[in-house]
Amino acid sequence: MSDQDDGLRLFITDILILFSIGFLSVQFFKFVSWSYIYIRASTLPRYLPPQKKVPNWSLVTGATDGVGLALAHELALHRNSSVIIHGRNPTKLATVASSIRSQLPPNSPIRIETVAADVVEPIAASRTIATFLEGKNIRISLLVNCVGGTVMFGRRYDGLDEISEEAATGIINLNTVFPAMLTRAVKPRLARPACIINLGSYAGTAGFPFLSFYAASKSFNMTFSTSLNREMHALNQDIEVLGVVLGSVRTESSGLITRDASGKVGLEYPAFFIPTPEDMANAILARVGCGRHVVVGYLGHALQAIPMEWLPNALTEVMAMEATLRRWKAERKGE
Ligand SMILES: NC(=O)c1ccc[n+]([C@@H]2O[C@H](COP(=O)([O-])OP(=O)(O)OC[C@H]3O[C@@H](n4cnc5c(N)ncnc54)[C@H](OP(=O)(O)O)[C@@H]3O)[C@@H](O)[C@H]2O)c1
Repeated sequence: MSDQDDGLRLFITDILILFSIGFLSVQFFKFVSWSYIYIRASTLPRYLPPQKKVPNWSLVTGATDGVGLALAHELALHRNSSVIIHGRNPTKLATVASSIRSQLPPNSPIRIETVAADVVEPIAASRTIATFLEGKNIRISLLVNCVGGTVMFGRRYDGLDEISEEAATGIINLNTVFPAMLTRAVKPRLARPACIINLGSYAGTAGFPFLSFYAASKSFNMTFSTSLNREMHALNQDIEVLGVVLGSVRTESSGLITRDASGKVGLEYPAFFIPTPEDMANAILARVGCGRHVVVGYLGHALQAIPMEWLPNALTEVMAMEATLRRWKAERKGE
């Protein structure tokens, strides 16, 4: 073998070693920055200063149940925030408000207000809420666009041939038009600094079948968050907009809670991957200030998403398909 061949082999080996070091360094850097999202301290106190005598205001939509309800509790009881609870049912709103008030310490300056608006009429609902804020002269430091879902329109999973016009437009209005129009309507009532959190769903990231209208709506929310966050930054508005992606949560509407004959509650898969609404609420608030436009809120959900990013396409196709096909079939069987 000539000296020239040896030189070439050495050169190729050096290139491969350098390439491997470079690749591993990039992966390591990615891993460290990914991990940091879940261990860093939240900057929520920047928007809701804990020592302030007159508490700031948060507005949480869809806060009479599930994650929204847990957020309202957490903000009022532990984050020094007065809260406006939005829902559609005045009786349920009154019950939730008095339950939170009864848990506040005596003489607490925290206030709980409620506003009812059915968001199936998204423009009218966003106007109702904006008028309510104006009437009470309230400035919002934290807006959580939480209301969303599919189950309120009948089924959880629907194919294109099955879904009614009413359910399809309802899903779009509830998950997309309303949060966007509400954000637009309450912008003049935002304090500075302020934070807007929009809730997304892993269905929107993965594009699960039989959830097309819902998945696309949730995906809209995330692009809306990214674009708006950049716009606020460009205009020096001191308003952070964060899209938080959720996987399955232990809410009644998720359909992942089963009950046997004795009423004992079971879960479809390991509990770590299906947080309680309270854990989910804390995870959402913990991600504030994470430096991303869109983030998977809860660590267990972020771990679940890794295979979808790393495995070969053929495999992720099967996984995305199976995830909801099985549940769609089960829902039809139960009808
Ligand atoms: N749970 C999950 O597994 C999961 C997974 C991914 C993403 N997410 C997202 O996380 C968010 C919260 O979900 P969740 O499961 O906590 O919701 P949930 O338990 O079903 O609660 C929904 C809330 O929205 C209200 N609401 C429903 N329809 C309404 C309407 N037409 N007008 C006004 N309010 C209405 C409900 O009021 P009532 O009490 O009157 O019904 C309730 O307060 C949603 O955006 C959802 O898409 C949830």
